[in-house]
Amino acid sequence: MEQLIQSAQNFLSIAFFSVATVFFAFSLLLLLLRSRSWCNCEVCDAYLNSTWATEFDNLCDWYAHLLRQSPTGTIHIHVLGNTVTANPDNVEYMLKTRFENFPKGKAFSSILGDLLGRGIFNVDGEAWQFQRKMASLELGSVSVRSYAFQIVASEVAHRLMPLLNASSLDASSPLDLQCVFRRFAFESISKISFGLDPGCIDLSLPMSDFEAAFDLASKLSAQRAAVASPVVWKVKRMLDVGSEGELRRAIQLIDELAIQVIRQRRKIGFASNHDLLSRFMATINDEKYLRDIVISFLLAGRDTVASGLTMFFLLLSRHPKVAAAIREEVDKLAGDEMARYDQLRGMHYLHAALFESMRLYPPVQFDSKFCLNDDVLADGTFVSRGTRVTYHPYAMGRMETIWGRDCLEFKPERWLQGGVFSPANLFKYPVFQAGLRVCIGKEMAIMEMKTVIASVIRDFDIEVIEGDGYRPRFAAGLTGSLADGLMVRVRRRSSREGVAFLGS
Ligand code: HEM
Repeated sequence: MEQLIQSAQNFLSIAFFSVATVFFAFSLLLLLLRSRSWCNCEVCDAYLNSTWATEFDNLCDWYAHLLRQSPTGTIHIHVLGNTVTANPDNVEYMLKTRFENFPKGKAFSSILGDLLGRGIFNVDGEAWQFQRKMASLELGSVSVRSYAFQIVASEVAHRLMPLLNASSLDASSPLDLQCVFRRFAFESISKISFGLDPGCIDLSLPMSDFEAAFDLASKLSAQRAAVASPVVWKVKRMLDVGSEGELRRAIQLIDELAIQVIRQRRKIGFASNHDLLSRFMATINDEKYLRDIVISFLLAGRDTVASGLTMFFLLLSRHPKVAAAIREEVDKLAGDEMARYDQLRGMHYLHAALFESMRLYPPVQFDSKFCLNDDVLADGTFVSRGTRVTYHPYAMGRMETIWGRDCLEFKPERWLQGGVFSPANLFKYPVFQAGLRVCIGKEMAIMEMKTVIASVIRDFDIEVIEGDGYRPRFAAGLTGSLADGLMVRVRRRSSREGVAFLGS
């Protein structure tokens, strides 16, 4: 009898294993068929073999080149099943007119699902509406904006300025400004969103380890989207090997940080607090969901602001006249004091220079949606159900059809009318996205960046150490950050030598 049971067990195990193998092979075949990875047109060939890199420094530069050449400002990368557009009419069509037909979609959610979970960036429908409503209430209120300004001003005065001052005293060692801005933006967004100073959270590892895990997870998640077939990363994830093993370990660390943030907030109490996390905690108990929300806000507020500031100072070091004009405006409106919120709003030239810098170097270089049902874009391009449709702010900032023949030049004046900042149509400049999912942190981000620029530029000269023919190279990731950082030399301006230091 025992033998019979044993044989039956063996038979069942073999049968189960065989069915699982056939099922796996079949799924693999289906995924391969759906990935259309066989196209050998010139563009797909250049993509698959990376031959575009012989002529261009960055993938986004190559895309910009292809989009400029296209009569409609739209191209299709067959092997990725991806329609890419730099046509403002199409952007409006996707983000507003036919918003319902262009959600984030399942494909995107699965690529970023491990990192972002059900956080606002990664969901559609009710989950998105709920988080958007809560976050908009918070970020849109006047009192929260002024609370955020106090935090940013204090971070600038007590952390950023002393750090730059120390660097100016040691002219021999250059400073990685991108790294400084990331730390600054991370601390600011943590305080604003969670009411906590990352330095005060009881963590098992130094903060820099968590930041490194964040960078790695962002890079590896973005790489998933760049491969022709998802089969590769899905199989690697199943086996927990290579980049997928690294990604899992990085996410594990990030989870630890998020959980600590939530527990700390719970310990201190959240009922009477106005930070974003406390608001969410009042209605959500699910710790995993709260973790997803925490991660999304860290991502939203850290890398974007750091990227915007880094590229701004790169451009500024090449345009001393723009730096001089900003200084004049800051001196006129704020004098020796740190600029107040209302004074910052009056700095139109600074505002124009910042928008001009993000036109050329948008922190989010491209953004993808998923076509739910067959559709025809505003320029007549047919997109079939299941196609990834990407609008490309980086390329859009480089289109003559949108910005004229001088589109590659850095000219803050193009944003001014009679000295007053005049915004562009949002679908021509979707740097903060546009339409129904437009960035809700936009005003706060602009305030944060203007505060930093006005303070830094008044007290310091920032010289970017560029080798001959230096051209920015971007790292793979969800936001446009420089692969090698931005090395600078900081000098205290001689006219400010005797003036009381902001941070003192
Ligand atoms: C220079 C700085 C920033 C830029 C360029 C920027 C840009 C963007 C872009 C392009 C999106 C759309 C992303 C997508 O579709 O997945 C977005 C969404 C969002 N941003 Fe920002 N952002 C910045 C700063 C911030 C800050 C500081 C916060 C917050 C505290 C923030 C909060 C959000 C949120 C919550 C969303 C999701 C909106 C939604 O899906 O409805 N952003 N942002």
